Amino acid sequence: MTSPEKIRSVPRLGLRGRLIAAFATGALVLSVSMGAIAYYTTRHFLITDRQSAALHQAYANAALLRNALAANVPHIDLQVTSLDSGAGSVSLLNDNGQWFSTSLAVGKNSIPLALRQSVGSLHVATQTSVINDAPAFSVGVPLPSQQAAYYLVYDLSDLQHTLRVLLTALGAAAAATTLLGAGLGLIASRRTMRPLAEVSLAAVAIAQGDLETRLPGHRGDADLEGLTNSFNTMVDQLQERLERDARFTSDVSHELRSPLTTMAATLGVLESRRDELSEQGKQALDLMSADIRRFARLVEDLLEISRSDAGASDMIYDTVTIGELVERSLHASTRLNDNFPPPTLFIDPSVRSVRLMVDKRRFERIMGNLIENAANYAGGATRVSATLSHDALHLELRVCDEGPGISLVERDRIFERFYRGDISGQREGNEGSGLGLALVADNVARHGGTVRVEQGPNAKGSDFVVMIPLHREIEDADET
Ligand SMILES: Nc1ncnc2c1ncn2[C@@H]1O[C@H](COP(=O)(O)OP(=O)(O)O)[C@@H](O)[C@H]1O
Ligand SMILES: [Mg+2]
Repeated sequence: MTSPEKIRSVPRLGLRGRLIAAFATGALVLSVSMGAIAYYTTRHFLITDRQSAALHQAYANAALLRNALAANVPHIDLQVTSLDSGAGSVSLLNDNGQWFSTSLAVGKNSIPLALRQSVGSLHVATQTSVINDAPAFSVGVPLPSQQAAYYLVYDLSDLQHTLRVLLTALGAAAAATTLLGAGLGLIASRRTMRPLAEVSLAAVAIAQGDLETRLPGHRGDADLEGLTNSFNTMVDQLQERLERDARFTSDVSHELRSPLTTMAATLGVLESRRDELSEQGKQALDLMSADIRRFARLVEDLLEISRSDAGASDMIYDTVTIGELVERSLHASTRLNDNFPPPTLFIDPSVRSVRLMVDKRRFERIMGNLIENAANYAGGATRVSATLSHDALHLELRVCDEGPGISLVERDRIFERFYRGDISGQREGNEGSGLGLALVADNVARHGGTVRVEQGPNAKGSDFVVMIPLHREIEDADET
């Protein structure tokens, strides 16, 4: 299977980012289009309003001037000045090529040429242009009977200002709406993402071995209910399958036990009569007894590990002092591996009389397997120590040897089931099954602790470090 991530090389926004972006973009598009409609409608309305007002005014003024010119009123310039042309506007009269204006700043040349030409050809004309850096609307009305023309230059700067303020306000509203949209997106994404976060947490818990984890129901939500149901069904099936597998291994090992006991008993009989056997018979007997011991050991280990997988192994807790616990279990282990001198033992006085709640049999198994491995692969353990960890919360148990050590690549793998290192093949008569350290890890985990291997001091040998919490709530004490 190729995951979609592998196909896509361009980094993409996460789900939450995309939701927020969608909300923000929606708000932006909506507010900008509403704003644009509002702006252009208002603008159109205001401008046409102004233009028609200007046109009316121009017609009225032109009529007044025509009458004045017809009546040959003296001081026609005063007539022009007395015209009502509206605030900020300018009236101009072209009387036979002579120009009169109500403003010094606006004269003949301020009127756009095209407008003057249209009026010259006896048409009423209008034009919007920029006069003295301000927008203006000019109207020209020819007065042919008097060989004159009237112009009204209407100032539009206040209108421009109004429209600018409107545009700024609409822009600010659009920005605020976009932010609001993004905020809503954030809230919506939190709500939408919550079930996904639940799935992810549940998956992590399951991956860490808590197979009882299920997703809470989402009643009434058809979309989520489907997801929840299929997730929970998947975990149900997974759990069932794991339990079935574990039960199978456990049952098989159990079934193998009784024939094995018979075989061991038969072997005992044969061994008691060893002297009666021929040389060849003795060799065959030795081979067989080694194999049966190995087989018995494998079945025992397998049974133990599979029972714990099936959740069937009980923990039998006792409260003991650390000093007593370590001494006893070390004694039991070295007795079984007596072809090497016993390791030196150091128990930190600060932990010696600390009481610990442990399953003694399992603790002995931890110590026993580590001591046995040291005997098998490293010329025997050289030192065992029990101290308080750096964080002062754990018992730190170290089993050290000065053997060949364990390569970096193997340091994690040796705790896997059935993993046997290269070194194990070189030992003759070694009864290992590759389950020893897996059992150590399992038993340590049952006490809430961890186990790891380090390189020994001066790069010699290996140190197996077991950390067991000193204070722990025991939830599974009554497990069956
Ligand atoms: N003290 C040690 N020194 C070197 N190698 C070790 C030591 N203890 C364990 N190993 C390696 O780890 C492997 C796994 O150990 P274990 O799980 O006890 O299985 P087994 O002893 O049955 O082989 C061994 O096969 C060996 O290669
Ligand atoms: Mg072993």
